[in-house]
Amino acid sequence: MTMLDKLAKGSENIFVPPAPRRPFVDGCGRTINYLRMSVTDRCDLRCRYCMPQRPNFLPKRDILSLEELYRLACIFVAHGIEKIRITGGEPLVRKNLLQLLRQLGDLLPKREGTESSPEDLPESLPGFLQNLTLTTNGTHLTEFAEDLFACGIRRVNVSLDSLDAATFAHLTRGGSLSVVSEGIDAALKAKLAVKINCVALRGVNVSPEEVDRMLAWCGEKGCDLTYIEVMPMGDIGNEKRLNQFYPLTELRSSIAERWHLAPSSYSSGGPARYWHCAETDRRIGFISPLTENFCDGCTRVRVTCTGMLYPCLGQESGSDLRAPLRDHLDDDEPCAKIVAARVAKKTRGHAFVIDRNTGMSLARTMNTTGG
Ligand code: 5AD
Ligand code: SF4
Repeated sequence: MTMLDKLAKGSENIFVPPAPRRPFVDGCGRTINYLRMSVTDRCDLRCRYCMPQRPNFLPKRDILSLEELYRLACIFVAHGIEKIRITGGEPLVRKNLLQLLRQLGDLLPKREGTESSPEDLPESLPGFLQNLTLTTNGTHLTEFAEDLFACGIRRVNVSLDSLDAATFAHLTRGGSLSVVSEGIDAALKAKLAVKINCVALRGVNVSPEEVDRMLAWCGEKGCDLTYIEVMPMGDIGNEKRLNQFYPLTELRSSIAERWHLAPSSYSSGGPARYWHCAETDRRIGFISPLTENFCDGCTRVRVTCTGMLYPCLGQESGSDLRAPLRDHLDDDEPCAKIVAARVAKKTRGHAFVIDRNTGMSLARTMNTTGG
């Protein structure tokens, strides 16, 4: 009897992966192993670089149901996706998200302290997910941290652009720093590793005081930190991209004047370049889509909450997966074929340029695509 037969016999609830299918390989020969999946375009904050004050959120019928999201995830996992990151908008405002997270957690091999996954599995088994993570703005972490851990999630990325309460409230148009900071404490208490994502914004959060405070705070909490260059995505109302943009090359050299940074070979399979900060003994990452060619090692693809597949954040062309999912309820092949064809077109670079007049280059907004 194979291990999978044993598992299947042991319990009806145990996930048995389908026979592994041919992996999705892109135009440069890279095997795609990482999926970012947006579960909603909605958010309880209104960050100025992300959305206008009164966004037009999508009608519900356009958004994939939790069942459709799960089915899609299973298709990707069967084709070799090992890591799924759930994003938004703000994923934790999606109603009943835990239902999906529990199901996805069941695709993970058993890890110590995880109740929801099958036992006796080796760490790497084709057709199983290896890693389930979530990007959140932290406003609902106090409520959800323990549930997230119970689902098998071990790391979360929390977006936090300032440790100054007034700046934070201004930037998010009304967000509360203390709520997010309590959420981060709850996550750490629940044994989730927390990485802070901080979007560098000129004149807002890149002064030596703000940056030093962020580095020291992350060091004290035991969080890694990644700075992100503001990316030119979608309509953000009256805000101007060129005013917001601050090159991370500048930020890094300014940090290096006061902190000891050594290049780190760590890679998250994504576009960040990492350094090790001696004083805090933590990693600090920089994602610089505009000033560096960051795409070389990228093995990820994204699906929006409406089921659009984008092999690259910086390219306009994508493929609709919602129609093949809805048109073929009992057959995953049509959807998988479309994914394979679109992934094959994934190219090496991206096409971000901030238009000098409009401040825009891509019509898609970050909250539909997921960061
Ligand atoms: N440029 C860069 N980062 C962005 N994010 C949202 N919009 C943008 C943008 N235009 C970030 C969020 C979060 C991650 C999901 O993406 O702050 O950290
Ligand atoms: Fe919400 Fe994240 Fe956009 Fe801020 S950046 S408005 S937290 S989706």
